[in-house]
Amino acid sequence: MPDSSPAIEVRNLVKSFAGVTAVSNISFTVARGEILGFLGPNGAGKSTTMRILTGFLPATGGHVSICGLPVATRADEVKRLIGYMPENNPLPEDMRVTEYLHYRGRLKEIARSKLGDRISEVLDLCDLKRVRHRIIGKLSKGYRQRVGIAEAILAEPPVIIMDEPTIGLDPHQILIVRDLISRLRGKMTVIISSHILPEIEMTCDRVLIINQGRVVAAGAPADLRREILGPSRYRLEVAGDTTALAALIGGVDPSLKLDVIGEPDAAGFRALSLATDRDSDLGESLLRALAADSRFRFRSLGRDHPTLEDVFLAATRRSWDVVDAPQSSK
Ligand SMILES: Nc1ncnc2c1ncn2[C@@H]1O[C@H](COP(=O)(O)OP(=O)(O)OP(=O)(O)O)[C@@H](O)[C@H]1O
Ligand SMILES: [Mg+2]
Repeated sequence: MPDSSPAIEVRNLVKSFAGVTAVSNISFTVARGEILGFLGPNGAGKSTTMRILTGFLPATGGHVSICGLPVATRADEVKRLIGYMPENNPLPEDMRVTEYLHYRGRLKEIARSKLGDRISEVLDLCDLKRVRHRIIGKLSKGYRQRVGIAEAILAEPPVIIMDEPTIGLDPHQILIVRDLISRLRGKMTVIISSHILPEIEMTCDRVLIINQGRVVAAGAPADLRREILGPSRYRLEVAGDTTALAALIGGVDPSLKLDVIGEPDAAGFRALSLATDRDSDLGESLLRALAADSRFRFRSLGRDHPTLEDVFLAATRRSWDVVDAPQSSK
């Protein structure tokens, strides 16, 4: 395995099913130790891409390699490098948790002498100790998801691919799974797909948004937010001489622009909206400047924090505009 190669490399990947294009020329790389979030609406091509990466589905075109090994020609070796938790996480209903992990560990050719200790470790990691002797079919959804994750990381593969690992979990269980994935950071390369966008934002180093089989946005969550949603905004309620406000605000930071001024309410307060390209939080400086100036009174200050959900909607809408509206000038 060449050491310098990225953990995952995808170039011009195409997949068609009987003439229907599910994946249309996707390219990306994932560095070793990186956690990548894979986002997209239903039918975007997430599961199809993941199945191709894991060697379970042949591509129609393009190139995929895992730790330098081409999946198309060396699928058996690639499967050993990947822990894969497929969509819907199919598990044998009638096996007990430890029994199942033991069986999977043997299939993954973990040495018998090490397997017991490793199972004990993943049971701990996935908080499964309490249910280790239970029959999988009788476990709750959250526990079953965790059994799927335990299975994926069991053989300590360099690459972990999980298709919607948090789907159907309650917020408490989502926290546990998020923690678990975070603990893999730096040790394993991870791709997770999800619809729960704040989860991706908190867990992932980088996000890839796909729609209709194409990459519509990629980058660190904060960069994506900036790129797609534009400047950050502050909202402020101020009473007093608003004609002098622009100068005061410019004095706090020249990048701040007074964007909208509302009509004064009965108490004389106006709502203001300020826009800036700067990332740093200017709230404290704004408050200090206003408090120090007797011409103004202020009532509230807030900063708009667009969520990744907004980014996702903006990015997929942008691509829908492009794909579905060829008559538009975009
Ligand atoms: N085996 C198949 N045969 C035919 N079409 C398929 C097959 N698998 C997937 N598709 C089609 O490929 C497209 C992408 O599906 P895919 O399952 O990859 O999407 P997804 O992003 O995982 O969606 P979801 O969020 O619903 O899981 C869809 O239009 C789907 O109908
Ligand atoms: Mg899917």
